[in-house]
Amino acid sequence: IRVAVVFGGRSEEHAISCATAASVLRTLDRERYDVVPIGITGEGRWVLVDDEPGALEIRDGRLPRVPDTGRQVVVPMGGRDRDLRVVAEDGTTTDLGEVHVVFPLLHGPFGEDGTIQGLLELADIRYVGCGVLASAAMMDKHVMKLIFAAAGLAVGPYAVISDLDWRRDRAAALDAASSLHFPVFVKPARAGSSVGVYKVDHPDELEAAVEKARVHDPKVLVEQGIVGREIECGVLQGRGAELPRVSECGEITVVGGGHEFYDFEAKYLDEDSVRIKVPADVAPEVREEMRRIAQTAFEAAGCEGLARVDCFVTAGGEVIINEINTMPGFTPFSMYPQAWAASGMTYAELVDELIALALE
Ligand code: DAL
Ligand code: MG
Repeated sequence: IRVAVVFGGRSEEHAISCATAASVLRTLDRERYDVVPIGITGEGRWVLVDDEPGALEIRDGRLPRVPDTGRQVVVPMGGRDRDLRVVAEDGTTTDLGEVHVVFPLLHGPFGEDGTIQGLLELADIRYVGCGVLASAAMMDKHVMKLIFAAAGLAVGPYAVISDLDWRRDRAAALDAASSLHFPVFVKPARAGSSVGVYKVDHPDELEAAVEKARVHDPKVLVEQGIVGREIECGVLQGRGAELPRVSECGEITVVGGGHEFYDFEAKYLDEDSVRIKVPADVAPEVREEMRRIAQTAFEAAGCEGLARVDCFVTAGGEVIINEINTMPGFTPFSMYPQAWAASGMTYAELVDELIALALE
């Protein structure tokens, strides 16, 4: 089976995608898979890269980048000829052969948002994970909440500030958001890894935070802070008519490092500041409720393959869904694989299963 592992990309989570890819490249069994590593540079150029996972890891605070190797990858569209090609700087073309499945290990816009999924649909190439609609909908924190609410799931209070809202009547937009209880979290609607997310303690600071979030996306969400524990679980599509499978829950706690919440630094650069505990120490009713919510959300969003479902559990034991990530961080230390490990599925088994699901 020829597997193209695609990573990097134009989003601000480029480096996280590289780290995820490093782990998957290390794990793919070369007896079973013929692996083609394709990097997408920060500028969006698809290039064939060397199969060197070590160069793609986050190490000593250094965020990896896809190098522009000059070997551009070309994907054929809709013809009888299905072979991928590599065009070198001097114009020489090499045939890479047909790719049977793509593992789009991309986080954020231009990868986790339905765009590459659409390209692969057009090229008639199978791929791991969610399709166009689920990817696009789960990338947008506003649309995501509408879908969850329509499926009867509890979501926290929030306000949306669209680009037009901001341009036409900024005061009204701020006013609406100020009616939430503070602190609030100001977030770009379409981003990940807490990029561009700001915790705001007072209405006076709201405008500046919205401006900063708008650098990442002209559509901004203001979410009321929820006091509770952050509990996450993994979902894996079932085989055939099986229901989506849900892993053990894991808990994230920010324990130090001066981080006010689980921000980008805490996530990837300041490992000592975060503790991931799997399985989470939660009551059986909470565990059962997480399972119900995860399955409902996965189905309501039309997810395929995999997703990580992130929730808050309040002191009273209420479970509130925060979001779904359709391509969660995927190193062996990330929550998604850890949650599956606690459920008895190793990292390598998980990778194999995802590829098998894509080929089913
Ligand atoms: N967006 C990051 C990669 C995550 O959700 O794990
Ligand atoms: Mg996310």
